[in-house]
Amino acid sequence: MTQQASVNPWSDDDNSAFLRLRMKTFWNLDYFEKVILPLLDLPQSGRVLDVGCGNGGISLLLADLRPDLQITGMDFEPKPLEDASAYASRNGLKNLSFEQGDAHNLKYADATFDGVVCQTVLTHVRDAETVIGEMTRVLKPGGIFFAAEYTNSAMANYDNVHFDKYDEAWYREYYRINLLFMKGKKALGRGDNTVGVRVPLLATQAGLDVYDVRLNDRAMHGFPPYRHEKQRNYLELVRMANIVDDDEKWLRLDIETVTAGGGTEEDGRWFHHAIDSAGIVRAIDEGTFTATGSFPLYLTFARKP
Ligand SMILES: C[S@@+](CC[C@H](N)C(=O)[O-])C[C@H]1O[C@@H](n2cnc3c(N)ncnc32)[C@H](O)[C@@H]1O
Repeated sequence: MTQQASVNPWSDDDNSAFLRLRMKTFWNLDYFEKVILPLLDLPQSGRVLDVGCGNGGISLLLADLRPDLQITGMDFEPKPLEDASAYASRNGLKNLSFEQGDAHNLKYADATFDGVVCQTVLTHVRDAETVIGEMTRVLKPGGIFFAAEYTNSAMANYDNVHFDKYDEAWYREYYRINLLFMKGKKALGRGDNTVGVRVPLLATQAGLDVYDVRLNDRAMHGFPPYRHEKQRNYLELVRMANIVDDDEKWLRLDIETVTAGGGTEEDGRWFHHAIDSAGIVRAIDEGTFTATGSFPLYLTFARKP
């Protein structure tokens, strides 16, 4: 799961496919419809901005459930935006448009939108504080801010491949170097993996009134015999995340990130090989892969006074 190591992975086709597949496993739709949507309280025909929308993510979900909304998705990378537009027209979704830009410096006027949302973006931006400030600026008074953001500061110990195989020394080493990796990622301006827990405070400091903080209720699960579609979708996602085509590139990125955090090249190499991706793929193929868990995804709901 070296996805996080990439400098700029989002314009590559595999990542588009990965994000598209991820959306199939990301939300429990009943939770999104019955809990999230009412909490969002977006006005009829309101304008919504999806910051760092990638190839559609939450824009497509919202457009489907709330066809009255006018949704603009924006992202730094042009390729996922093309993919998002093509998907929207193939599926007859007319209430969407996609535009390129930088979340640190949104090109929209103050008080343009009734809602501004982001999903798994703030862990990737150089400066989450600035981005939240920008999201706040473009909201109308009374407008809604919603962020679904991870704190993935450690690998969740949820798959049997790792749980069965490694001892305490391995876990100590993994967490030690993971900390260096996170520091390096931040130092290189590639994001902060702990941002999820801090969004409520950052939103408050930006002048928003945070009226609720929740967790996504989705537990990623897959265990033999993988009876349900949810499980099979998740398995496919795990397989995709663990098939790494260009190993040298990922290795270099891991070394670069870990050394930027104060580790050695050897730490970077160890970290790169720590996750037994081949073992995970093998376990999936053999029908023995078992997982029940996920990283905590924090949902922050706020209103601009
Ligand atoms: C993990 S993807 C999430 C995509 C989408 N929100 C979803 O949930 O499927 C992170 C996205 O953030 C975008 N991103 C990173 N930094 C950005 C910035 N400064 N401005 C706009 N988008 C940015 C990336 O290009 C990428 O599409």
